[in-house]
Amino acid sequence: MAARTPVLDKTDLFGTLPPELLEQLRGRTALARYRRGDTIFEKDDPATHLYVVFSGRIAIVARASDDRESVLTVLGPGALFGEMSMFDGGIRSANARALTTAHLIAVEFDDVRDVLVRRPEVLWAVVRILARRLRATDEALADAMFLDVTGRTAKRLLELSDGESDFRMPLTQEELAGMVGASRERVNKAIALFVKLEWLEISGRSRYRILNREELEIRTTV
Ligand code: CMP
Repeated sequence: MAARTPVLDKTDLFGTLPPELLEQLRGRTALARYRRGDTIFEKDDPATHLYVVFSGRIAIVARASDDRESVLTVLGPGALFGEMSMFDGGIRSANARALTTAHLIAVEFDDVRDVLVRRPEVLWAVVRILARRLRATDEALADAMFLDVTGRTAKRLLELSDGESDFRMPLTQEELAGMVGASRERVNKAIALFVKLEWLEISGRSRYRILNREELEIRTTV
């Protein structure tokens, strides 16, 4: 599928490659389709591929031994995941699950290693991706310490909206609660408050409309 090149081209990792190398790499990728709820891989699985999201949404999920879950991040088209185990021992650090029907481009670690040997400057992009992720993790830790559930819920809703006023909530109530790091009841209460204040409108099961982004943003600051 020729359209795969533009997606690879937009990722931080492969975006800087010269066209012929990108084309060569594209020839070695596979496109896999997942349905909503499908597991892509689980924590501690041995790993051989990284993935680029071609379409749909993917959740990276940490799971406790009692099966409680925390959604670490939600990824959309162009995002890259499953690369960490290429660098540190070949074992997955978290679960990955399709939140919607999703198409993923799978790239074998060996092919990525070949690219890195031939174009070592691409490692800058790897470092950038990991530094960004560490920043996001630091921020989530600080949020857990300094923001209340209402503030964390507002923050996650704004992130999931991806800058759009109208958006479809890709997570179940349980998953959203896991991402906020609070019980479903407390997160629902926060959402009900935003609806009452007319900062947010919800129709059907998953259609969300942000009516007052500014107020929601103020609620995310300490
Ligand atoms: P890997 O360890 O191969 O498999 C799980 C993937 O989830 C990991 O690579 C990263 O791509 C991704 N991942 C793990 N932790 C986080 C996080 N905190 N934020 C975003 N992505 C993550």
